Formats: sequence, C-alpha cells, structure tokens
Amino acid sequence: MRSSLTRRHFTTLTAAAVCGISGTAVSAQGMRSSMPVQESARISLLPPRMEGGMPLFEALKDRKTTRAFSTRMPDLQTLSDLLWCADGINRDDGRRTAPSALNSQTIALYVILPNGVYLYDPAENALDRVLEGNFQKLAGTQDYAQKVPVTLVYVSDLNRSNCSPETREPYARVDCGFIGQNVYLFAASEGLATVFRGSLDFAGLAKMLKLKEGQIVLYAQSVGYPEEDEKRMASPIRLVK
Ligand SMILES: Cc1cc2nc3c(=O)[nH]c(=O)nc-3n(C[C@H](O)[C@H](O)[C@H](O)COP(=O)(O)O)c2cc1C
Repeated sequence: MRSSLTRRHFTTLTAAAVCGISGTAVSAQGMRSSMPVQESARISLLPPRMEGGMPLFEALKDRKTTRAFSTRMPDLQTLSDLLWCADGINRDDGRRTAPSALNSQTIALYVILPNGVYLYDPAENALDRVLEGNFQKLAGTQDYAQKVPVTLVYVSDLNRSNCSPETREPYARVDCGFIGQNVYLFAASEGLATVFRGSLDFAGLAKMLKLKEGQIVLYAQSVGYPEEDEKRMASPIRLVK
C-alpha cells in the first residue's frame, strides 16, 4: 500500500474525530469511510480529504471523457471530496480551488442526485435540497446522462460579477472550465468517470431551478463510476486453481 494511503486513513480518522462522526464512518481498522449518501433537506458533507490522491502527472495522463456509466452512487466521502476539489474553499479568505475572474465567484454548483436537486454551500460544507424528487431527465439531452447518479449543473449569477458587462459572461465560462477540469482530475485520481457537457435543456433547467434575470446555466458535468466497474462487480468470482 502506498504511504499516501496510510496518511489518508489517518487524516480521515482525525477529521472524523474532530467532527464527532461515529464509528460507522471510519472503521476501527482505519479504513476509509464508505458512509452512503442519505438524501435529506440538508446533507452535511464530510471534511474533504485535502491530501493524498494520485500524483498530478498521473492524473493528467489518465484525464479523459467517459460516457458509459454505472448507476452506482459514490459514497459520502467521495461526494464531499468531489465538491471540494471542484470549487471548495481552500484558503482562510474564502478563495476557492478554482480561480475566478476578479474573484467574482459567480458560479453555483447545483447537484442532481437520484432523489433531489441540491445546492452546494462551500462555506458550510453542505448540500441544501432545493427540489425533492427525481429530476435526472433534466441532467442532459444525451441518454447516458440521465442515469448517472451525480450531475453537477454550473449556474453563473452574472449579477455578482466584478467584471465589465462585456466580459462577465465569457469570464464566467472560463471560470467554469477550471471547475470542470478540477472535476476531471479528481475523477482520474479516484477512478471515476466524468463528462463535461454543453448539450443541455437550458430552458428546462432554468425553469426547474427557478433562475432569475442574470442567472444562466453554463454547462453540466456527469460524475459516476465507469460502466465496466458495474460489469466487473456483477460477474461471479472465479477461483483460479
Ligand atoms: C465546452 C465543452 C462542451 C462539451 N459538451 C459535451 C457534450 O455536450 N456532450 C458530450 O458528450 N461531451 C461534451 N464535451 C466533452 C468533449 O466532447 C470531450 O472533451 C472531447 O471529445 C475530448 O475528449 P477528452 O475529454 O477525453 O479529451 C464537452 C467539452 C467541452 C470542453
């Protein structure tokens, strides 16, 4: 086992102890938490791991778009780490893992899960439900997108931008690209599948999210496990004689 894994287990244990998470989150052996995501009005995320993972060069080597997904839901730690890597707070002054033009931070991450739509609150490290029910049909116009367990919908509130009127939308799109790449690199590191998408039902999403003047859906990104994982897990174990 790589030494970074050992460090990761230690960090998870320490973070869990600090946050008062019960022994079901982290086993006595120090194995990584596999606590399931339980959908509710507010999902309290676990402290993000913030260390370990795949070396950057290996993650860049493995970064790719995948469009064949399993329906397996990532566990709570993976979801927490995903959101922090995407656009979490990484400094005391509230700046984020992704850069943003004039530090405008206009992009909200909506998260479509199988039983609801949530808004990521990076300061509270939580997901707040904005809609209850299955809205996966709005996750994307391509068939594969509608069965992926986690869809990030990137919405910019241009009213919050510190940029000039001509640059606020193009700069918001650049900001979004950085978030998307953070997710691609996290996915490569964790063996997850992801696709950044521009083919969306923009009007349908805007209606669903009750967006106001100046708030626009930019892109979405599906995140899950690759389909081959599902096939491998479904196939019976063959003993080698
Ligand atoms: C702005 C943007 C929009 C994209 N929109 C879609 C999309 O709607 N559907 C899709 O399947 N892939 C989409 N992609 C993914 C690209 O098709 C993919 O990155 C490209 O084929 C290169 O493959 P790679 O990411 O594996 O290098 C988009 C990528 C970007 C950057």
